[in-house]
Amino acid sequence: MHRWKAHKEVGSTAMPVIIKELKGMDPLLYAAKMAIGPRQLTEKETRSTARRAFQNNPRLTAAEIGKLIGRTRQTTTNYIADLKAIQNISLDLKIWRMNRLGIPQERIAKRLEETRDVIRSHLGKMLNLTKSPNSDLVSGLTIPQVAVKHGWSEPMLWSLVLEGKADKTRFKELGWGLRTWDVWNYNDCDPRFGDDWPGRIPGQMIGHILFYFSNPNDLIFDPMAGGGVTEDTCLALGRRCWSLDMEDHPDQRPEIEPYYWDIKNKTWDDTILAGKEKPDLIIFDPPYFQKKADCYAKESIAGLSRIEYLEFLNHFFIFLKKNTKKTTRLAFINADWRNFQSCPALEEEAKNAILLTDYYKILEPSGWELTHIIQAPLSSERFNAITVDAMQDKKILGIITRYILLLKQKN
Ligand SMILES: C[S@@+](CC[C@H](N)C(=O)[O-])C[C@H]1O[C@@H](n2cnc3c(N)ncnc32)[C@H](O)[C@@H]1O
Repeated sequence: MHRWKAHKEVGSTAMPVIIKELKGMDPLLYAAKMAIGPRQLTEKETRSTARRAFQNNPRLTAAEIGKLIGRTRQTTTNYIADLKAIQNISLDLKIWRMNRLGIPQERIAKRLEETRDVIRSHLGKMLNLTKSPNSDLVSGLTIPQVAVKHGWSEPMLWSLVLEGKADKTRFKELGWGLRTWDVWNYNDCDPRFGDDWPGRIPGQMIGHILFYFSNPNDLIFDPMAGGGVTEDTCLALGRRCWSLDMEDHPDQRPEIEPYYWDIKNKTWDDTILAGKEKPDLIIFDPPYFQKKADCYAKESIAGLSRIEYLEFLNHFFIFLKKNTKKTTRLAFINADWRNFQSCPALEEEAKNAILLTDYYKILEPSGWELTHIIQAPLSSERFNAITVDAMQDKKILGIITRYILLLKQKN
């Protein structure tokens, strides 16, 4: 910066630069190391460099940082002690959550880029981790208060509080009215479950699927998990859950492992389903055809053509059948798709739509038989009065149906 300023002062418009290959070294630390030479960094500068370096890359040890900023390991440890403590707690919580969801230790280690020994030693201290939130809950703090105080997510605390209770009691304590019939209406997504995500579904809906079609401690698999509604609901209802998505959020959602279901490579033999343990229930909530295509990553299946989309599903259902067990159930969440927004009902063509029956035409030959069709309509309140009026003028018939198809494997 000094050099740049000097060039500017003498009026130059171009200045030579040297591009350094740092070969993986932290740029901040490189700069600090270069400054150690003739002109030492001040105490304040060294401290803040050490802290910034650790925040950028928490995997750096105090000794490594110390060497580069010209300070002892001990001094550097003091500089970053508070940051390291926060880091440790969040690592503990990640491990707690993943372990609670039944993710095997070697996958936790791989996902968090730690050794299995580190994971094992953290797991040994898990009981301690729950002590303080537990005693705050006992002393009368609410779940949201404890969540903020200790950095836990609410579903993690529900998983603690509801431990050992029957499903029906869990529903009651979560404040979810239990639906006894096959139409499940919800006005909104329960904000406690899942992140704000395009195409987010209500936690209550996943809760009902789990209630009727799985048992406590069953293994649930969500291949396109998005904002984590399934994982959070599994925590609250005491199910294990393995999940994948092409979008990776390692810090907020370490339990959702990154995986891209590539339509070009339909063997998909490298997924977490390759192992011995197979799920009891699959909850499959893909992006609906063309809906919100621009909200998801470019390669998402939402952007496929109608034929490609159906072809993807075809291969996917065959894959699921081959890679699960005889008793595995499939809950496939989908909505009819018609381009109703700009087309009067009388002019709509079957070839431009994907309806429930089109999905079934694929599911049936791929080895899945239907046991239940549940209606879980979208709320019609998302359409404002002006839109509704315009639709009525043009005789456009809108869609709010959403289905959950429940399937089991054919013998
Ligand atoms: C409808 S969203 C799931 C929403 C989730 N149930 C929730 O409530 O948060 C569908 C997800 O599928 C993922 N996805 C789409 N195409 C994919 C692909 N080919 N491989 C992996 N994930 C994909 C998207 O990233 C998106 O998160």
